[in-house]
Amino acid sequence: MKTITPLKDYSLLGPEAKRAEERGLSSADWYMTPIPRERMKELMQRRNWPAIRDTIIWFAAIIAVGWLGYYTWISWWSIPVFLIYGALFASASDSRWHECGHGTAFKSKWMNDVIYEMASFMVLRESVPWRWSHQRHHTDTIIVGRDPELLFQRPPDLKGIVMGVFNIKGGIHELKNIFYHAGGNVSEVEKTYIPESEWPKVVRNARIFVTIYIATIVAALWMKSFLPLMYIILPGFYGAWHMLLTGMTQHAALAEDVLDHRLNCRTVYMNPISSFLYWNMQYHVEHHMFPMVPYYNLPALHKEVLYDTPRPYSGFWEAYKEIIPALWRQSKDPTYFVERTLPPSAHPILEKTAQEHKVHEGWVEAAKVTEIPEGDVIRFDYGPRTFALYHGNDGKFYATDGLCTHGRVHLSGGLVMGNIIECPKHNGCFDFTNGETKRPPVKKNLTTFPVKVEDDKVFVQIA
Ligand code: FES
Repeated sequence: MKTITPLKDYSLLGPEAKRAEERGLSSADWYMTPIPRERMKELMQRRNWPAIRDTIIWFAAIIAVGWLGYYTWISWWSIPVFLIYGALFASASDSRWHECGHGTAFKSKWMNDVIYEMASFMVLRESVPWRWSHQRHHTDTIIVGRDPELLFQRPPDLKGIVMGVFNIKGGIHELKNIFYHAGGNVSEVEKTYIPESEWPKVVRNARIFVTIYIATIVAALWMKSFLPLMYIILPGFYGAWHMLLTGMTQHAALAEDVLDHRLNCRTVYMNPISSFLYWNMQYHVEHHMFPMVPYYNLPALHKEVLYDTPRPYSGFWEAYKEIIPALWRQSKDPTYFVERTLPPSAHPILEKTAQEHKVHEGWVEAAKVTEIPEGDVIRFDYGPRTFALYHGNDGKFYATDGLCTHGRVHLSGGLVMGNIIECPKHNGCFDFTNGETKRPPVKKNLTTFPVKVEDDKVFVQIA
C-alpha cells in the first residue's frame, strides 16, 4: 500500500510553527473589507432578546424531542427521533458554545458565560482549553503550525472524516483529554496557548465533567436502561452529524497560510433549520473578518461585504460538490487546494497611508474634535507607532496604545461601551480611561497617553 507523507508538520511545536513566525504569518494583520464606522457600530450592537428567544426555542425543542424519545424507546422510531434529539443537544451546542465564547450572542456577559459552560458540556468540549484554542484559531486561521483547529490537513484523513459523522475519533479524543485533565494534567501543546493562570480551571472543569459522567452511568445501571446515556453522554457522538455537515463547509480544502479570510473560509447559504441550529455561522467569511458581529446581524453584514468577497455557495449541494472531490484529490496530491476567486468589484488589500502631524514638546495633533463622535474610537498613526483615540460619553478624549496587548490587532476596529473598549479579535476588554484589563483573554494593561483639546483639535502627548 502506498503511504503518502504529509508535506508539512501540522503540530504546534514543530518546525512549521517557527517558520510561520519567521514568515510573519503568526498574529498578523488580516485583510478586512472597509465598512463605514457608523454602520459597523450598528452591526456590532448586541441585544439579549434574539438569543433569549432562540435559547427558549432550543431548550423547548430538546425537551419535546427528548420526551418523544422516551415514548418511542425502544422501537425503530427511536432512531430518527434520537438523531434529531442528538442534533439539537450536541450539534446546536457547537454553535452556542462558539457564539457565547466570543461573548457576542447575548448583551449580558453572565448569560454568555452560563450558556457557554452548558453548551461546552453538551457538545463534549472542555470550556477552558477550547476557549483558548478558538482564540488562536481566529488569530492564525489555517496557518500551519499555529492553528490548533486546523482539522483538514493535507493529505486529509478520509477515514477520520467519515467517522466524524458520529464523532468517533473526535469524541474519543475529547473523552481522553477530559480524563487526562481530571488527573491534574495539562499537555505541553496546550501550554502554548492556555495561560498558566487558567490551568487549575482546566482541571476543575474536567473533574466536574467526570462526576456527571459517573452519575449518568450509575443512573443507567440502577435503571438497567441505556436511556440516561442516550440523553446525556452519547448525543456528543450520535448527534454530531449536523455539526459535521455544517462545520466542514467552513475551511475544508481551502488555502493554507494566507492572511485573507476571503481565501480560506466559505460562506454557504443554508436552509432555515440548519441556520437555526448553526446560529448563522454559514456566513463564515463574514464571521472571521468581523468576529464581534453577533450571529443575528451576520445576514446584514453579509450584504455589506458581498461585493468584496467570493460568490457564496448556493447551498450544501454546491459546497459539497466542491469539497468531496477536492479532499479526494488532496489525498493523492497534498499540494492541491481550492482557490477562491474574488469578484472584479473586490478591494485589494488596503494600503496604509502615512499622515503628517505637527509636533510640539511631545504633543501631536491627532484629529479634529469633529472627527471622533462621542462614544467612539478612531485610529491614529504617528510614524511607525499606532494609537487609539477615544471620545468618551463624559465628553472627554482619551488615548491608548493602538494595538491590543493580546495580539497585533487595532483597537480602533473595536466597540466602545461606556468606558470600555472591546477588542475586535477575541473580545478582550480594557477600560480606555486608565488602560486596565476588564475581560480575558487580555492580561496586560494598555499604555495610556495624556490628551488635550485646543482650537477644536485633539492633541496626544506621545513622548
Ligand atoms: Fe486577542 Fe485583542 S487580540 S483580545
